[in-house]
Amino acid sequence: MTEQTALRDQVLENEWHPVCAAAELLDKPLSVTILGERVAVYRTRKGVHAVRDLCVHRGAMLSKGWVENDRLVCPYHGWQYDESGRCVCIPAQGKDDRIPARAKAEKYHCQEKYGIVWVCIGEPRAELPSFEEFENPEYRPIVCGPYYVNAAGTRVIENFTDFAHLMYVHGGLLGHPDYSELPDFEVFKEEERVYTGDVPIFQPVAHSGSEHKEGTVYVYMKEVFRPLAARLSKRDRETGQTLWIMLTVLPVNEKECIVYMPVSRNYGFDVPDSQFKAFQDTVFEQDKWIIETQKPELLPLDLQAELNHKADLLSVAYRRWIAKMGVRIGTA
Ligand code: FES
Ligand code: CO
Repeated sequence: MTEQTALRDQVLENEWHPVCAAAELLDKPLSVTILGERVAVYRTRKGVHAVRDLCVHRGAMLSKGWVENDRLVCPYHGWQYDESGRCVCIPAQGKDDRIPARAKAEKYHCQEKYGIVWVCIGEPRAELPSFEEFENPEYRPIVCGPYYVNAAGTRVIENFTDFAHLMYVHGGLLGHPDYSELPDFEVFKEEERVYTGDVPIFQPVAHSGSEHKEGTVYVYMKEVFRPLAARLSKRDRETGQTLWIMLTVLPVNEKECIVYMPVSRNYGFDVPDSQFKAFQDTVFEQDKWIIETQKPELLPLDLQAELNHKADLLSVAYRRWIAKMGVRIGTA
């Protein structure tokens, strides 16, 4: 990745962003980039922490250091930072020498939930979106991703709100072009989210001949509940078997992002998680191929800029919603 400069976005810097799978963050610190800002995340016995990835002494990357006695140690001269970000040890000076008050690492908000480590580099303006199915014992949770995408995070969210691509981009997996007609559906707009009513979609079984009459009707509901976080449920109308997918995007910079997907299902417990994840990987790969080549790269918030169809109701609601909110990064 090329050198980043921090990007200012008064909305996105106050959001919680997914930075890694909780299982990835063990005893070694990790370096992540949020809106162009380098951030070190690390784990101690007390939990997960995030600081600006820059030692105030000589600008070394703290994420290249290590954790010792619950302190983050800079790899350059061994300064040690405690969990509040304060430097509590400078090895080059005597024990009784004063540590300057300015010797502090800039702390960020950090928490672990839904199998993900989340960081906010500003002041969180909202709680993490809730995803109760991930913690419901009747469901089986896994974390899919990370998926690296060379595109604006807003483009990824918009793709997730889209129904009419299922039969094309995911033809054979999530639908079929012979059954592309979408029913009319409703979109609801609230202060903090935009979401659809039920959208039934017929998915034929694997098709060898030209007739695909057998299949399943899945009822979808899609919801965007943060500028860069959305979720959907997909329910088998007959059996009630339900899949929930939360899609959450880390904006690395304006045109690059990383996607994490906590997913939860109340069926198919005999299917190995690896197989389940491989399927989601395939589906995401199909989306990514489109998203990375869309123009313009920044999501146009001017509704006249592209052609909107009634199938795009949720996408239009999303564009309006983030325009009103004032999201600048990833939009035009
Ligand atoms: Fe970090 Fe010197 S640069 S201790
Ligand atoms: Co898709």
